[in-house]
Amino acid sequence: MRFTNSALLALPLLAAAAESPFEQYKAKFQNFISSFGAAVPNVAEKVAPAATSSKSKVAAKEIKSLTLSNWKETLYAPVKPEAIQPEEWWVLVTGGAKTCFGHCTKIEVAFNETAAKMATNPKSPHLGRVDCDDQPVLCNSWSASTGALWIFEMLPSPAPIDVYWKPFNLTSVTGQDLQDLYAKTTKEGNKEDFRLITSYFHPFNGVLADYGAAVPIGYALWALNVLPSWAMMLIVSFLSRSMM
Ligand SMILES: *[C@@H]1O[C@H](CO)[C@@H](O)[C@H](O)[C@H]1NC(C)=O
Ligand SMILES: *[C@@H]1O[C@H](CO)[C@@H](O)[C@H](O)[C@H]1NC(C)=O
Repeated sequence: MRFTNSALLALPLLAAAAESPFEQYKAKFQNFISSFGAAVPNVAEKVAPAATSSKSKVAAKEIKSLTLSNWKETLYAPVKPEAIQPEEWWVLVTGGAKTCFGHCTKIEVAFNETAAKMATNPKSPHLGRVDCDDQPVLCNSWSASTGALWIFEMLPSPAPIDVYWKPFNLTSVTGQDLQDLYAKTTKEGNKEDFRLITSYFHPFNGVLADYGAAVPIGYALWALNVLPSWAMMLIVSFLSRSMM
């Protein structure tokens, strides 16, 4: 009871403080959080009807939209139970105004252009995209930032899965860059331009995924990001007072 009252008393104080030193703190905190990749109030699953529309022309290669609920089954879908060679996926982690500040258009165009080029090549990787504006929890649970390409080497479960990623210069990236990269990584089997993911946030083999914690942490990071800083301070104040 005692701490509830004092927390309530703290409210106007916090609101008043929100003007000056708090703004600074808030900006810093938001920068820090956005380095985790995403930040949007829309938790609902929004699956873009993207993939089907591309069938009209001479079948550009389908780009699957990955969501929090379908990403795993989608990535595993083409994997045969007895496979020894991995099925490769190229997944663009992108975003709109909220998570990529409108800077992801160029890489999307480059990726879509590459998808069209790959249509005639039966050996080309499967293609997917994650829109962090629509899928903030998924992006947070992978600790994925926008404007990057992820490669998944899918083997039948429960084999460990290699995942690589590469960020791009979003002002200069072109379709040709991606096609050169494809030639280098696939034909020459050389992934030196990519980084192998070994962190806790690895979507399949990470410690967080092993313990089923990646998605709850994705939600927590997302919540931290959408909560205003005074709400954070209020929670901290509640917690610290209740421990006294
Ligand atoms: C790229 O293709 C996807 C799906 O095929 C589509 O949703 C997206 O709007 C396209 N992006 C651009 C910039 O053309
Ligand atoms: C990205 O590319 C632009 C245009 O080529 C260049 O001016 C800029 O310095 C590059 N940024 C980085 C971080 O390399």
